[in-house]
Amino acid sequence: MIARLGEVATGIRPIIPADLPGCASVFYAALDELTARHGQPPPIRNEAGMIGFFGHLLTTDGERAWLSGGIDGVDAFGFAHLRGSLWFLSFLFVRPESQAQGVGRQVLLRTFPHDPSAAADDGMGGASAWNGVLATCADSIQPVSTGLYTGYGMVPRLPLFTMLGRPRRGVLPGLPRSVERCGFDDLVDTAPDGHRRLVDLVGEIDQQVLGYDRPVDHRFWRVADRRGWVYRDRADGAILGYGYAQPSGRLGPVALLDGELLPAVLGDLMSTLQPAGDWQIFVPGAAERVMVALLHAGFRCEGTPALYCASRIGPDLSRYIVASFALL
Ligand SMILES: CC(C)(COP(=O)(O)OP(=O)(O)OC[C@H]1O[C@@H](n2cnc3c(N)ncnc32)[C@H](O)[C@@H]1OP(=O)(O)O)[C@@H](O)C(=O)NCCC(=O)NCCS
Repeated sequence: MIARLGEVATGIRPIIPADLPGCASVFYAALDELTARHGQPPPIRNEAGMIGFFGHLLTTDGERAWLSGGIDGVDAFGFAHLRGSLWFLSFLFVRPESQAQGVGRQVLLRTFPHDPSAAADDGMGGASAWNGVLATCADSIQPVSTGLYTGYGMVPRLPLFTMLGRPRRGVLPGLPRSVERCGFDDLVDTAPDGHRRLVDLVGEIDQQVLGYDRPVDHRFWRVADRRGWVYRDRADGAILGYGYAQPSGRLGPVALLDGELLPAVLGDLMSTLQPAGDWQIFVPGAAERVMVALLHAGFRCEGTPALYCASRIGPDLSRYIVASFALL
């Protein structure tokens, strides 16, 4: 399908696996230009990891993955995913030379679960044409994307901070004696229906904390080098939450029924692995105890925060540490 947008002739079509390297190239070109414009260092490149991540989104949500391009390759792309009634925009990137000509908006519209023009008078950019929540994370240094998303009702609601560091010994609280940690692998290996049981356990926590479950993402995180643990009540075995840590130092997602336990659980997760460098944790501003505890333990905020933008308030991120800005 060919559409003429401003001065750029673009073909907008669904993404296929062969397009993923081209999408990664657009991603880094757009980010490099954005960070250079703000005098920031370029992002660390992990092209293979990005392509793997795009591949996961393409597998789970192929109908929400679109690009604009021609014979010269990809100009712009967008990936969104649907989990329960949450529609979430993971990526929207346009090559620097094609920006500000309407291409990003056209790709975004294709990824939507609804037609915003169907509720054009709702005062929320047509968001009420969709029964669920529309959400994304935007970079706070980027008024273009923030303005574009807000125009469709995804209003900036909450900052999310990237925190880096290694906890000073003895500053973060320890786990209460009543709480114990159990590795996902131990659960899966010891129970006859282990994997099913694990998915049910973490799915129940996701339902209570986020309002939806996402077995497909847990499978992806487990395969992609993250190690997971559940936290449970030592006396009756009741599951209190779960958390992931990665040998690279990335920590999350972490979801707990009781947000007051978060600082202790983060400290405990950081005792499980020894990354070569700093731990990296994406902390929602709503997780107030975590921000305070990590700062006291020696962590520092890195760069500028992301903005969680959504058409409605919620979920309550005071008891949750996000996995990434592209897949909560
Ligand atoms: C953000 C990005 C995807 C937008 O795509 P684009 O093709 O450049 O944008 P479009 O021309 O389709 O739409 C621009 C819209 O942004 C909004 N916008 C632009 N500047 C704005 C500002 N200063 N304040 C508020 N809104 C603004 C307007 O709604 C504008 O539409 P309009 O010109 O019709 O009024 C693209 O510029 C990009 O890839 N940037 C670098 C990477 C990036 O920041 N990606 C998003 C990560 S969150």
